Amino acid sequence: MKILGIESSCDETAAAVVEDGRKVLSNVIATSLEEHKLYGGVVPEIASRRHAESISGVVEEALRQADCTMDGIDAVAVTYAPGLIGALLVGVNFAKGLALATDKPLVPVHHIRGHIASNYISNDAEPPFLCLVVSGGHSHIVAVNSYTDFEVIGRTRDDAAGEALDKAGRTMGLEYPGGVSIDKISTEGDENAFTFPKPKVTGSPYDFSFSGLKTSVINTLHNAEQKGEEISIPDLAASFQKSVVDCLIGNLEAVASDRGYGKIVIAGGVSANRKLRAEAQKMCARHGWQLFLPELKYCGDNAAMIASQGYYEYLAGRRADESLNAYATMQIEENL
Ligand code: KG4
Ligand code: ZN
Repeated sequence: MKILGIESSCDETAAAVVEDGRKVLSNVIATSLEEHKLYGGVVPEIASRRHAESISGVVEEALRQADCTMDGIDAVAVTYAPGLIGALLVGVNFAKGLALATDKPLVPVHHIRGHIASNYISNDAEPPFLCLVVSGGHSHIVAVNSYTDFEVIGRTRDDAAGEALDKAGRTMGLEYPGGVSIDKISTEGDENAFTFPKPKVTGSPYDFSFSGLKTSVINTLHNAEQKGEEISIPDLAASFQKSVVDCLIGNLEAVASDRGYGKIVIAGGVSANRKLRAEAQKMCARHGWQLFLPELKYCGDNAAMIASQGYYEYLAGRRADESLNAYATMQIEENL
C-alpha cells in the first residue's frame, strides 16, 4: 500500500511516498530556513507564503521520484496539528483538494506521532516502547502502547528542549537554529567549564523545565560582560548542552526503570544531537536496553515520517473529509 505524505507544520514543505509504512520510495523537502536565519527565528508569514509557492512542485517531485502517479497512491496523509496555523493550513488544504480530486482517502496525522514514526522507516522498531520526543516545540516522554495509542508520562512545564537550545544559542550570538550551532561548537568546548543549577520541578518527577537553565546562561553572559571578562562560547555552549541532555536522559532513565521498559526510542529534531545520541547509547548499554535512533535525515521535519504514521492511522480506520481543519495545538493522545 502506497501513502503520499504531506508536511507543512513549520518551515519545511515536504512530500514523500512510503510503501506499507516502512519503505521510503521518495522524500522531498523544500525549506525556507535560510530566509528565517535573517530574523533569528521562523517568521510564520514567510513560512506560509513559501509553503503556498512550493507545495505543488514538491508533491509532483515526490511522485516523480517514487516513479508513480496519483493512480498508484492508496491514500493521502497530511499533518494537521500541531504547528504554525497558517503553515499547516497550506498542507491541509492542498491534501484535501488532492484527495477530493483523485477520489483517495484522506488521513490526518499528528506531527509528533509522525516524529515517532521516523523510527519505523529508519529502524525495525515496533510498539510498545518508551519514546523521548524532543523537537523545537515539544519535550515529551511518551509511552507508545501501539501505533495509534499514546500516553504522555513526562512533559516540559515551559520551554521545549529545542526551543531552549535555540534561545540560548541566540544569546551566545550563534546562528539560528541554535540547537544545530550548539551541537557543532560544543565539540571545541569543555562541557565541565560551567555548572548550571539542576532544574527543580514540583509535582510529577518526570516533567522537565528548561527556562531556568536558559536564564542561567543569559545571566552568566551578562555578568561577564559587566565585569569586562571574556567568556569562551564553545565552553558555555558545551556546558549548557550537557545540562539539557542530563535532564532529558535523567528523566528518561527514571521512567524506563520505574515502569520496566527495555525498548527506548528517541525522535524529533533534537534527536540529531550528538551528545544526546551518545548519552542515550551509554544509558541503554548500562541497563541492557534496546535503543532506536532515527537516521539523521529523518530527525528533522519530513513527510516520510507522516506517510509512515499515516499508514498505521489508515489501518486503524482513521479518515478525514473536506471538513478537516488545522490546529495549532493538540495533545498527542487526541483523535480529533
Ligand atoms: O522536529 P523539528 O525539526 O521541528 C519541530 O517539530 O519543532 O525540530 C527543530 C528543533 C530546533 O529547535 C533545532 O534547534 C533542533 O531541533 N535541532 C537540534 C539539532 N538539530 C536540530 N538540536 C540540537 N542538536 C542538533 N543537532
Ligand atoms: Zn517537527
